[in-house]
Amino acid sequence: MSKNKKYHIITYGCQMNEHDSEKLAGMLESLGYNNTEQLENADIILLNTCTIRENAELKVFGKLGQLKEYKRKNPDLIIGIGGCMMQLEEPVEEIYKKYRHVDLIFGTHNIHQVPELIQKIEKNRKRVVEVWDQEEGLIPDLPSQRESEYSAWISIIQGCNNFCTYCIVPYVRGRERSRPLEAIVNEAEKLAAEGVKEITLLGQNVNSYGNDLEEKIDFPLLLEELNKVEALKRIRFMTSHPRDFSHKLLMAIKNLTKVAEHIHLPIQSGSNKILKEMNRGYCREYYIKTVKEIQNKVPEAAISTDFIVGFPGESDEDFEQTLDLVKELRFDMAYTFIYSPRSGTPAARREDQIAEEVKKERLNRLMEIQNKISYEKNQKLIGKTQKILLTGPSNRDQEVYEGRTRSNKICFIDKRPDLIGEIVKVKIDSAKSWTLQGTVVE
Ligand code: 5AD
Ligand code: SF4
Repeated sequence: MSKNKKYHIITYGCQMNEHDSEKLAGMLESLGYNNTEQLENADIILLNTCTIRENAELKVFGKLGQLKEYKRKNPDLIIGIGGCMMQLEEPVEEIYKKYRHVDLIFGTHNIHQVPELIQKIEKNRKRVVEVWDQEEGLIPDLPSQRESEYSAWISIIQGCNNFCTYCIVPYVRGRERSRPLEAIVNEAEKLAAEGVKEITLLGQNVNSYGNDLEEKIDFPLLLEELNKVEALKRIRFMTSHPRDFSHKLLMAIKNLTKVAEHIHLPIQSGSNKILKEMNRGYCREYYIKTVKEIQNKVPEAAISTDFIVGFPGESDEDFEQTLDLVKELRFDMAYTFIYSPRSGTPAARREDQIAEEVKKERLNRLMEIQNKISYEKNQKLIGKTQKILLTGPSNRDQEVYEGRTRSNKICFIDKRPDLIGEIVKVKIDSAKSWTLQGTVVE
């Protein structure tokens, strides 16, 4: 066991990575390490990387450069790097050759080996590269060191089978593998017993949960089972692939009291030509029909989405169709991305790439319209009562407390330590595009 040793983990990318980092933290704690926020005090620094867009990779290389100085000051420091970027040959080679201060490289399929690998490095002081090409079944259940006391992530399905033509995820995360229902329910029960009030079920496509299992199990059934876990108050999930968003799931959201009314349903583009070339498996009309059905059956539901602008061959006309769709559907929130060619994906090989300035201009136009819609939608909540799960002080100001509404909107209230971890009724006083401000209603 390592006495008084400290670790620091830097995470890039999505919730799945953040959850993997919680598992890495859990494993390091079981080796006797404690977390430190100060890099200069750390005996181990781990980077959990993302490769979804080029920007994400640039940030990682920048950080690696900075870490060299820490290694110079403390030669015993162990620097490890894992995550999606390490499933690709090029960055691994580059890091191995040019970043000699990195001691450990590990992949997404073998994070469970990290404790063992670290112990090996502590003993031999030799660099280790351990990246499995293929998933060997599921990553085993690992202890995790949660960020939040009241809110926890549960991974329900790993990998993705979709191969959208722009996306690197299926190459770095492998094929879909669902966790057994029992393991998920047990984890939820254990978390609830520890005081967790809200769980978020994670998967690249939660709607294909169960497809690869022998038993006849699907996502709505999983929700039904989790809804029975008594001490839990809220169940969230992401991400839903529009093609697989079923009526049965909508009914589960409507009828199961704990399932929160927020649906993240990435559309990517409003143009049928582009959707087809992205290999998304649905058309604009199908998506609109799905959203209208959600709005009709669960009017209080918030719908968020993702857009990619500047996919190869996207014409002005295609982009206008995206803008029209945004205006028609009025999402509560949208994450907007500039298309970033990922080596090895079909779209990156295309010759009709869009110029950077055009992409930026489209992004700005889209964001401007969406921000206005988000603002207007939030304004409509003023004067209404919402239930938030109060999680504690906000990052920026210790005097301000925050929580999320069932529809996943961040809401600030004045400091109330006595209510942390509770579902609190608040009246909304004011609203911006991304946040609400409210007063507790006793
Ligand atoms: N370029 C830009 N955005 C991408 N996304 C996935 N791959 C790319 C890419 N190559 C976006 C999609 C997805 C979100 C998680 O990231 O919108 O839904
Ligand atoms: Fe990538 Fe498409 Fe899978 Fe989402 S569904 S992870 S965008 S391949």
